Amino acid sequence: MKNILTAPFMVEMIRTATNMYDHGWDERNGGNISLMVDEDEVAKYLDLNSVLREIPTGFDASTLDGKYFLVTGTGKYFKNVQYAPEVNLGLIRVTDSGRTAQLLWGYADGGKFTSELPAHLMSHAARLAVDPENRVVMHCHPGNLLAMTYVHDLNEKAFTRTLWQMCTECIVVFPDGVNVLPWMLCGTNEIGIATAEKMGSARLVVWSQHGIYGAGKDLDETFGLIETAEKAAEIYMKIAHLPLLTTITDDQLWLLVDRFEVEPREGYLAPRQA
Ligand code: 13P
Ligand code: ZN
Repeated sequence: MKNILTAPFMVEMIRTATNMYDHGWDERNGGNISLMVDEDEVAKYLDLNSVLREIPTGFDASTLDGKYFLVTGTGKYFKNVQYAPEVNLGLIRVTDSGRTAQLLWGYADGGKFTSELPAHLMSHAARLAVDPENRVVMHCHPGNLLAMTYVHDLNEKAFTRTLWQMCTECIVVFPDGVNVLPWMLCGTNEIGIATAEKMGSARLVVWSQHGIYGAGKDLDETFGLIETAEKAAEIYMKIAHLPLLTTITDDQLWLLVDRFEVEPREGYLAPRQA
């Protein structure tokens, strides 16, 4: 059996958590990541019959039965993941219609998965239903996106359009837009259900006055998605209080759509000029 700390999925997870911390998105224990790993991949590093502990999840996620996830631990600091992966991360197998997580590796100090596991697993299920290649759900607290939820209209179309107008690349990177939830109590099944529902139509979901969720096919792509939205929010927070003299027009956004062959969220752009 190979050493799991050398597994490409583990190396990438550690690098990503470190990078997110370095970006200032994950103060203290803020943020959490879940990465779905194929059984064949896990089997190279772990005995699949050796379950260390069974941990109840407190919710149902039957479509994920038998799936494996590498997940950050609750209360754990992203800055420490690189120094003690086995304490700060855990590898679980979902069983019992999603109601039980079997721990195969990690949470070595007796800890458990993130308190946001409902939002993660329910979002995985929602994204897999529309994109079978989805593997990652990522949550963090980027400062500018968070700030924007205090001063910008929380209407999803308005929020998305503003971000698209802040950087030329935005509509190319997230043509599906950004969905927005009002403030809700975190760590609950309710916010999990609401997040997953929003994940059906977009890969980014803002939690007002809290942070953001992103989903994607790998850690790099998901990080890049959040990074791009956060850059746009940064531009917005730099200019929102200044007189706006120019912007990216809808005609220009259509040029980007055509050039990069993306599908913008329906109804979010003004109809093309004839
Ligand atoms: P956890 O430490 O349980 O992952 O919670 C952090 C967080 O960001 C809650 O939304
Ligand atoms: Zn959070």
